[in-house]
Amino acid sequence: MKPVRKAIFPVAGQGTRFLPATKAMPKEMLPVVDRPLIQYAVDEARAAGIEELIFVTGRGKQAIEDYFDIAYELEASLHAKGKIAMLDLLADSRLEPGRACFIRQQEPLGLGHAVWCARDLIGNEPFAVLLPDELLWNPKQPSLCQLVETYNIKGGNVVTVMEVPEAHTHRYGIIDPDKTEGDVHEVKGLVEKPETNAPSRLAMVGRYILQPEIMDLLAEDNRGVGGEIQLTDAMAQLIGQYPFHACRFDGIRHDCGDKAGFIQANVALALERPDIGPAVREYLKHQSF
Ligand code: G1P
Repeated sequence: MKPVRKAIFPVAGQGTRFLPATKAMPKEMLPVVDRPLIQYAVDEARAAGIEELIFVTGRGKQAIEDYFDIAYELEASLHAKGKIAMLDLLADSRLEPGRACFIRQQEPLGLGHAVWCARDLIGNEPFAVLLPDELLWNPKQPSLCQLVETYNIKGGNVVTVMEVPEAHTHRYGIIDPDKTEGDVHEVKGLVEKPETNAPSRLAMVGRYILQPEIMDLLAEDNRGVGGEIQLTDAMAQLIGQYPFHACRFDGIRHDCGDKAGFIQANVALALERPDIGPAVREYLKHQSF
């Protein structure tokens, strides 16, 4: 079984839900406390052993590329002033030379299309996909680590799921679970954003390990919900050909593609921080909700 070494980060979306903040700035660069949203997904991927990071970007996303580069002037001036602690803060945004690729999705044709744009960089290896809008928080066992562990035992395709309210199933890709062993379900079907009759309340929440054969299915340009090339539809075709499992994520999910979810992520992560947590807690305590 080939190890999972590569990850795709689809970051081409225009971030219209956050206008005007995202008029001149990628939404992935909006800070959750003091780190841009994209940093959380990158940290998670590296914790899971990912070596090559592939960002599928679009126009106006240059700031992401600059962020993961060396900031020579800034670093030189911090060095000169002896501000070593501040230099340390930049460590996680430095990616290993040659390990990050940036390619463009020229048109917004869907998540499946974004993933397909990376086909030549993926080649013939299994790969991960992380949707940075989904901030999945469990420092003890990050979601992608759980997927890699399951993949190393079961092989095939593995996705992260969480239970959502019945009334929200139409917003997600939903799995049809089969046999269950602990936190891991075999998957016998997948539906993208079911209008009615969702097969379960288990929603895919933006972490995937996929076999490279999915690229040929995505190339067929089949349009699904919203007239887009849906990753879920192509994944559904892999069921039966390869093992397909879903891991329940045991942690907190912040949907940072949504304004309320984004604010909640900021509050929740700020409360955990020893430097600012007490002040934020004190402020919240004195609000009359
Ligand atoms: C995408 C996927 C969907 C998944 C969701 C998680 O949908 O297509 O299957 O459940 O991400 O956030 P989107 O939210 O981009 O419409």
